[in-house]
Amino acid sequence: MELKTWTLPWACFLMLALLSQPCRCVSVHFLNPKPLYVAKGETLILRTEIDIRTKEAVPTVTWERLANGGGPQRRAMVAEYPGQSSNRRVIMEEQGAVLKIYKFEHGDAGVYVINVTDHTGYVASAQHIVEEYLPVYHVSVMVNVSHTSLHCKEAWGTEPLFTWLHDQAKVDSSLGQLSADNTTLYVKTPHFCGLFTCMVSNRLGYSSATYTSEPCGRKGHGGTAAVVCLFLLLIFAGVLLFLLWRRQRVYMTRGERLRESDDSPL
Ligand SMILES: *[C@@H]1O[C@H](CO)[C@@H](O)[C@H](O)[C@H]1NC(C)=O
Ligand SMILES: *[C@@H]1O[C@H](CO)[C@@H](O)[C@H](O)[C@H]1NC(C)=O
Ligand SMILES: *[C@@H]1O[C@H](CO)[C@@H](O)[C@H](O)[C@H]1NC(C)=O
Repeated sequence: MELKTWTLPWACFLMLALLSQPCRCVSVHFLNPKPLYVAKGETLILRTEIDIRTKEAVPTVTWERLANGGGPQRRAMVAEYPGQSSNRRVIMEEQGAVLKIYKFEHGDAGVYVINVTDHTGYVASAQHIVEEYLPVYHVSVMVNVSHTSLHCKEAWGTEPLFTWLHDQAKVDSSLGQLSADNTTLYVKTPHFCGLFTCMVSNRLGYSSATYTSEPCGRKGHGGTAAVVCLFLLLIFAGVLLFLLWRRQRVYMTRGERLRESDDSPL
């Protein structure tokens, strides 16, 4: 009995509290949570899914951009649904769930926030990072002589892919090992020779840098051997010429002496 008299008012109170809560009948999320990279001139497309339980009430949608250009974060209203955007590059589709911005510019990058407000005033919000897709810029190769490794660097290109070439051929495991991100090439010591090229690419193009070490073994030895042979040959020829010249001189002086003795009056 006592239990009932205590629990009943509490149960009623809880029920009332639950009922008086605003109805959370709207939610919003981005279809792809990964940051979006858009190159200059391309079309930025942000797709969200808005779930509404009460179909008869159309929620209002706002799209904002937070840009952090050095100073404090700046908020800018991008589009509102229902409504007409003042920016002719901006359009919305599917009752504001999809935002498109044509001819992407550097200033369009930032964090995009979508707010969806239902008829009770409840706001569901989601955000997405949008960055400019930049071309590969300034590739350089650094050499670590003590560890026979080469490190490739690139300044700020988006999603750079690193590839190594050795004397114009693709590097394979017999030459050395690559780091997991392909930026560092650990060369096996007898092969640390020739031309190493690091090529960095992304979907806007590629750029490369080359490190030139001393020519490779086979070619190098062949070259030195040829030089040594030529040198020896020249010395041999020199000696031969000298000997011939000396012999000739000896003959000539002998002949002269003979002639001298012939001329002398007897
Ligand atoms: C969108 O929602 C966020 C957080 O819910 C709020 O800070 C922001 O002011 C809202 N923006 C608009 C335009 O209502
Ligand atoms: C060469 O590589 C080793 C190992 O990665 C590192 O400890 C060393 O500091 C590097 N030397 C130079 C000159 O970068
Ligand atoms: C590294 O290069 C190999 C082929 O050379 C490639 O299969 C792999 O995806 C590359 N890894 C990265 C992180 O770029």
